[in-house]
Amino acid sequence: MASLPDHIGLDFGNHSVKAVQLRDISRNPSLVAFASQPTPIGVINSEDESHQAQLADALRVLYEDGGFRTRNVVAALPEFSIFTRFLEFPGVKESELEDAIHWQAKQVVPIPMSEIQMSWILLGRDESKNAYRVLLVAAPRKLIDLYVKIVQMAKLDLVAIETEAIAAGRSVYRSANVSDAVILDLGSQSTDMGIMVGGELLFSQSIAVGSDSLTRAIASEFSFEYNQAEEYKRNYGIDPSQLEGKIYQVLKPVVDSVIAEIRRGIEFFKTRTLKSAPDQFLLIGDGSLLPGLVVYLSQELMANVQLADPWNGIKIDKKQEAILSKGRSAYAVAVGLALKAE
Ligand SMILES: Nc1ncnc2c1ncn2[C@@H]1O[C@H](COP(=O)(O)OP(=O)(O)OP(=O)(O)O)[C@@H](O)[C@H]1O
Ligand SMILES: [Mg+2]
Repeated sequence: MASLPDHIGLDFGNHSVKAVQLRDISRNPSLVAFASQPTPIGVINSEDESHQAQLADALRVLYEDGGFRTRNVVAALPEFSIFTRFLEFPGVKESELEDAIHWQAKQVVPIPMSEIQMSWILLGRDESKNAYRVLLVAAPRKLIDLYVKIVQMAKLDLVAIETEAIAAGRSVYRSANVSDAVILDLGSQSTDMGIMVGGELLFSQSIAVGSDSLTRAIASEFSFEYNQAEEYKRNYGIDPSQLEGKIYQVLKPVVDSVIAEIRRGIEFFKTRTLKSAPDQFLLIGDGSLLPGLVVYLSQELMANVQLADPWNGIKIDKKQEAILSKGRSAYAVAVGLALKAE
């Protein structure tokens, strides 16, 4: 594979767009620049031209404010619009592999083949089964075209595209020094789960409940304005010792619904891969900053849960460090994209 030029990692989220540029990524990475910009409401994945123009404008502001040193961009497609599946091909020869993958893809991808762009990552071989192991990734063509267009409208050059889960896996693997982990990306509209085994992402799934659902639950329970509810969420979180457990009681059922989906995803992963699931969970995304969340998830999942620090092992100057200090786990996808070498 060709190596990528110097570039910015660009993470499009429903809540914010985040960007990171690093230098010397293969030997001794250091931070050149980073920035984030609120995403205008309702513009992500929109086919409406005016929405696309708004998103491109936000991107332009992000670029100008960030002090980046290149116009090359590697972007991630939102996880909820991507299909990934781990596949094994027992007895299939290398020369037959590509045809076998295409045949399998037709069976498992729920979108017509004419409407998707498919790619796959060869994960190696399972010698005991005489089988190639492959991660299949399929994205709607329309969506890829959309992001190519938006990046162009902002006068930037898109040099590569990948999925959020793969990017997050790269930065977590590098920074956390663990090769087996469940990665949970807590965003505004969704909670995305990736399962990494042996440093490779084998599974990803998007759960359609995000941190905005927590804010809405507080707003509706106490008849608060949205912004006030957001403040309560960030201040008190899912901690039974705060406000006599009143916020905790409201957030618990929403978080429990996500936990139920996480468990379901893990069961699905186990039946597909016949592997046991990692018992280490690493949290990323701004929603991971919810007070009390790490403790609550540790108890409920009976696992080791921690915030990931994607910046670990990246040289950062004092001034940048101070700005980053609050939400280090939030940039995992953008850092992973910035670290993509080929
Ligand atoms: N300190 C905090 N405590 C709790 N929640 C927070 C905190 N800061 C931000 N959030 C929540 O995190 C969410 C935004 O997270 P993030 O920026 O990772 O989302 P996104 O990637 O833009 O969204 P998505 O992944 O759904 O596209 C919002 O719901 C916001 O309320
Ligand atoms: Mg996100």
